[in-house]
Amino acid sequence: MPSPDLDFRFGFAASPEGGAEIARLIQDMFAVDVTPLDRLGHDPSVVSFGWWRDVELIANVSLYQRELWLQGDRVEAFGVQSVAVRPAWRGRGLFHDLMARALAYADARASLVVLTTGTPDLYTPFGFRQVRETVFSGPLAPGRALANHRRLSLASDRDVALARDLFARRTPVSRVCSACDHPALFFLKAVEDPDIALMHLPDFDALAAVRAIGEPTLTLLDVVAPAIPPLEGIAAALGGGFASARVFITPDRLAWNPAQTTSEDTGYMVRGPYLPEGHAFMLSPMKV
Ligand SMILES: CC(C)(COP(=O)(O)OP(=O)(O)OC[C@H]1O[C@@H](n2cnc3c(N)ncnc32)[C@H](O)[C@@H]1OP(=O)(O)O)[C@@H](O)C(=O)NCCC(=O)NCCS
Repeated sequence: MPSPDLDFRFGFAASPEGGAEIARLIQDMFAVDVTPLDRLGHDPSVVSFGWWRDVELIANVSLYQRELWLQGDRVEAFGVQSVAVRPAWRGRGLFHDLMARALAYADARASLVVLTTGTPDLYTPFGFRQVRETVFSGPLAPGRALANHRRLSLASDRDVALARDLFARRTPVSRVCSACDHPALFFLKAVEDPDIALMHLPDFDALAAVRAIGEPTLTLLDVVAPAIPPLEGIAAALGGGFASARVFITPDRLAWNPAQTTSEDTGYMVRGPYLPEGHAFMLSPMKV
């Protein structure tokens, strides 16, 4: 046991006090407010591993279920999130202990665990390896769809319900590499970054997450829809006038050939077989 003052607890994310302590830890360590998810909906698949001192969460590692599409196959995987140890308790092996427990749990249920980090050295000793992602860009021809869009507001319960409905009916945006996860992290990213617009395109029954509307380059971050519209159609529905696009999803279902691919270190790491490795792919950045 790392310290006799601490108790190990497991699976507390869904309880009110467990959820509140995870939120406080994430606020204190990363200055990210996850409490909007109290209204927008937490991911029920989150499983937390923590060391507690009485009612205070001192150290945490959480797993959440990820549904990935990798080279045509649907793959159940785990993501690692909310990794933090309060400063006074660092250097005693708490992170190491919780990672080992979380990975034992994951390994019994799935062959793949993924995460995104700014500190890959933390995770390589646990068998994670860095995988580079790719940004796709190039010119965009004018599409034939009519301009028809509305920016959704996550402050509106109706708009949240509309987005949730599309998530429930979504098809993978890419069969080469994409995720069909619970919308919690997608919503949180949109709340955290007001430059991201969630645009409803009613004629396509689609939701497009885009950045910096009004610029000549369309920056596309994700598409949530039961059928994936062509990129040129999305651009036209958004009002047109885009000379080019920068796409942060794997574009095999967008009916568009990017002129340029740029490999990027997005902090993505994987542990286990990962079929798109070595190919050009991007999982949507719509997650915190
Ligand atoms: C990173 C963090 C979780 C480590 O917690 P900890 O309980 O002090 O870690 P441990 O004592 O279990 O140390 C585990 C190992 O990681 C190493 N380590 C700690 N911080 C590290 C860092 N930033 N980069 C690389 N290695 C690091 C330690 O040296 C130790 O190595 P060793 O086993 O060879 O001695 C903690 O410092 C923290 O909460 N930092 C701020 C939040 C953060 O960065 N979270 C990760 C985001 S992806």
